[in-house]
Amino acid sequence: MAGSLQAPKGVPEYLPPASGQFLAVREALARPARLAGYGYIELPVFEDTALFERGVGESTDVVSKEMYTFTDRGERSISLRPEGTAGVMRSVIEHGLHRGGLPVKLWYAGPFFRAERPQHGRYRQLQQVGLEAIGSDDPAIDAEVIAIADSSFRGVGLQDYTLQLNSLGCQTCRPTYSQALREFLADCDLDDATQQRAALNPLRVLDDKRAEVQEQLEEAPLPGDYLCDDCMTHYAATRAFLRDLGVSWVEAPRLVRGLDYYTRTAFEFTHAGLGAQSGIGGGGRYDGLMASLGGPELSGIGFGLGVDRTLLAAQAEGITLADPDRLTCFLVPLGEPARRVAVTLLGRLRAAGIGCDMAFDSRAIKGAMKAADRSGARYALIIGDDEIAAGTVMMRDLIDGVQEAVSLDDVPGRMMGAP
Ligand code: HAM
Repeated sequence: MAGSLQAPKGVPEYLPPASGQFLAVREALARPARLAGYGYIELPVFEDTALFERGVGESTDVVSKEMYTFTDRGERSISLRPEGTAGVMRSVIEHGLHRGGLPVKLWYAGPFFRAERPQHGRYRQLQQVGLEAIGSDDPAIDAEVIAIADSSFRGVGLQDYTLQLNSLGCQTCRPTYSQALREFLADCDLDDATQQRAALNPLRVLDDKRAEVQEQLEEAPLPGDYLCDDCMTHYAATRAFLRDLGVSWVEAPRLVRGLDYYTRTAFEFTHAGLGAQSGIGGGGRYDGLMASLGGPELSGIGFGLGVDRTLLAAQAEGITLADPDRLTCFLVPLGEPARRVAVTLLGRLRAAGIGCDMAFDSRAIKGAMKAADRSGARYALIIGDDEIAAGTVMMRDLIDGVQEAVSLDDVPGRMMGAP
């Protein structure tokens, strides 16, 4: 006999009733982007491998070690998307969205795939809510994007998180900084693989989490020491707008981020309740990305918020969100004539947009009431012979146990505004 089937390693599954919290968190994370005029974009879950190699960068762990890459039936190299920004750029270029006015503001949500070593909060299929604002150099949009991420986390109810902020410089000042860092790293005691990284993209080494590497980096030159005048002005203005928006942050001069496309503003949100995988969201500017993918010279900025980790952070803070799919009522028919009334009422309630279910299979009252409790509904609507004779249902509040007879015709109205 074949062994029992299991989900792939490192892939979280969200099952009812806990999945209600997952949906609620994802919805809360996405709401501020919608309110700020970002349009929804649904993207392919797999793309040509070359898009990620060119867009995200071959020196990153994400591309060099963690991509799920395969050859399809047409001998093309395909990869499951490890992140969303490169795909958004590809789509904007392909469909000429930038010709319809700037900035192009888009948001997305869905699964991304990284073959990382699984641990608490680090998964091989991870969920993000992300957004991108393309074609504006205005520091006010940097502040807007960061403030949206901040209100997304606030909307979930999180309090125990920190926004870390840095500027990474631009095509003008970055080369001087990279060279200084490369020279510094050449004198450090690093293994061959790390030296090779230092040659390819020295900023990657700053992001190395190993203690023996970090120890040697205490005196390393930092991006902030090399910013050109334009980058300094941009960063100062971004911070001024953030202050106007009431967003608080800490300066993080060593923050570099794990993907290669970042320029200027870079940020990360970390949560105190998560342990090693503390990043609940991050993003930044990527001013050369569009052009490097064959598109127009347009700047951009965006973020990705981790839904799985935000859910863990919410649990760590003891936050429970209202489940968007929670039922309002559960019908309990007692006897065959009552089942006919219940099925009709169920149809009417659902047509009116009210979430409801009923006890099937002619259950006795005890089993049916148990099912009502388990359903998560606020009210049980009990229908027996007496109720049919009176043209009513018995509406029982499943939280406080209070019940009252309600006329059948009044039921949809009563349920409509129900908590
Ligand atoms: P990222 O920092 O790689 O950025 O990912 C964003 C968020 O996704 C992280 O802060 C984390 O919460 C979540 N995440 C990443 N990897 C995992 C994992 N293995 N398990 C669980 N959660 C994870 C990006 O992906 C960029 N595309 C963000 C961006 C958009 N930058 C500009 N625009």
